Amino acid sequence: MFFRTLAFAAAVGSAVAQRPANMSICDYYTTALLTNNTAANQATLLTLVVNTAVIGNYTQPNVGVSVPGILAPGEVNGIAVNLLPYFDGGFASTNTGGSAGMAVNFLDGGGAAPLMKNMPANDNTSAQYILLTHLYEYFGVLLGCSMQGGAAYPAYAGHASMYSVHKFMDLSYAEVTYFIDQVALSAMSFGVAKDDLTAVGTALTTLFGYRCEPPMTVVPSQGPQLESICIDSTCPLAANATCSSYATAMKPAIANSTLVPNSTTTSGGNASTTSGTSTSTSSMPATISKAAAATVGMSFAAVAGGLAALFL
Ligand code: HEM
Ligand SMILES: *[C@@H]1O[C@H](CO)[C@@H](O)[C@H](O)[C@H]1NC(C)=O
Ligand SMILES: *[C@@H]1O[C@H](CO)[C@@H](O)[C@H](O)[C@H]1NC(C)=O
Ligand SMILES: *[C@@H]1O[C@H](CO)[C@@H](O)[C@H](O)[C@H]1NC(C)=O
Ligand SMILES: *[C@@H]1O[C@H](CO)[C@@H](O)[C@H](O)[C@H]1NC(C)=O
Ligand SMILES: *[C@@H]1O[C@H](CO)[C@@H](O)[C@H](O)[C@H]1NC(C)=O
Ligand SMILES: *[C@@H]1O[C@H](CO)[C@@H](O)[C@H](O)[C@H]1NC(C)=O
Ligand SMILES: *[C@@H]1O[C@H](CO)[C@@H](O)[C@H](O)[C@H]1NC(C)=O
Ligand SMILES: *[C@@H]1O[C@H](CO)[C@@H](O)[C@H](O)[C@H]1NC(C)=O
Repeated sequence: MFFRTLAFAAAVGSAVAQRPANMSICDYYTTALLTNNTAANQATLLTLVVNTAVIGNYTQPNVGVSVPGILAPGEVNGIAVNLLPYFDGGFASTNTGGSAGMAVNFLDGGGAAPLMKNMPANDNTSAQYILLTHLYEYFGVLLGCSMQGGAAYPAYAGHASMYSVHKFMDLSYAEVTYFIDQVALSAMSFGVAKDDLTAVGTALTTLFGYRCEPPMTVVPSQGPQLESICIDSTCPLAANATCSSYATAMKPAIANSTLVPNSTTTSGGNASTTSGTSTSTSSMPATISKAAAATVGMSFAAVAGGLAALFL
């Protein structure tokens, strides 16, 4: 299955094939990689791309693009990034509806093992299952999957405002850029063409990578929402910024120090005061993955925004 899939990916990546203007990125690559542009195949494509972005490249063989993954530590423009404590319950950073973040373990459905089997989780009730399926759905909307909306590939059923979902994470420019880089590297590893990678990266940066963005519509049925995910002071300010719509952000408290690198715990146990940059709350210099740093650092050193420098 993977050999065939990735053989196609290699062909797509190297051939002169170009996506027709009237075909979405989702529809085009579903057809290129899985032949039939069905809802089930679109769901499979988004499962492969999201799972690879989260845990790093796991398909064998592959087209030679190494993806460290969102859960792996890395580096952006010389700033160490480690997103894992937001996902494993290390930080009290999840918006569960109250006035402060709560610790939630989103790796409670088997962690990486089911993802490597192209599944969201080992069950269908865990926080992991809900998060992963929502990511498959949301990124399907972003990539224009035309067949989404039925049982084989449900419409997005998660929270509407990406600001609201991520507000207690107080994410920095480096953290959001690292996440977007992993999505782009994942797509690249399946043979997505440069222009399409640039389009995806630009869209993600424009929609989520600025602070104080005015309401914007991502999921048409959900209407305009506050979408800023990058909200700490290192994030560039949006055009037409509406900062009064956004609450003052605070770095999340450490909920379980055994899940958070030492460099973070020693930065005060007072994570909320490290505004400005999140380097101190999320750095773990002793354990940076060299591969991750190399992959991202090579491409993103001194990049002011977006993915242009990686792919152009
Ligand atoms: C930049 C583009 C990003 C997009 C489009 C995005 C999208 C999403 C979506 C759709 C959900 C599910 C919401 C729901 O189930 O209602 C989610 C949840 C989550 N995201 Fe992001 N995200 C992005 C960046 C990040 C970054 C940089 C982090 C850093 C740690 C992050 C951490 C999380 C976590 C921990 C959750 C689970 C929170 C919850 O379910 O309450 N995301 N994201
Ligand atoms: C896209 O445009 C081409 C050429 O104009 C046409 O043959 C094809 O049917 C169109 N496809 C879709 C999905 O509209
Ligand atoms: C695509 O769909 C056609 C018609 O339903 C079917 O005959 C063919 O086997 C399918 N191909 C793949 C690769 O699924
Ligand atoms: C990830 O991709 C790199 C580059 O192709 C490869 O060397 C590595 O073996 C892959 N890792 C896995 C787990 O497939
Ligand atoms: C969830 O899993 C249970 C047990 O594996 C299964 O019986 C049920 O049909 C599943 N529900 C959905 C919606 O997939
Ligand atoms: C900012 O607002 C003005 C006036 O409403 C509008 O014309 C312009 O397109 C907006 N710019 C952006 C980047 O949204
Ligand atoms: C902290 O995380 C560790 C490792 O997952 C776990 O064994 C421990 O029970 C957690 N402690 C608390 C207070 O949640
Ligand atoms: C983290 O700090 C604890 C307590 O000071 C120490 O026992 C542990 O070895 C440290 N871990 C690392 C990876 O430095
Ligand atoms: C901890 O945070 C409080 C409130 O923001 C601040 O007054 C205090 O100086 C901080 N302590 C340290 C050690 O940074």
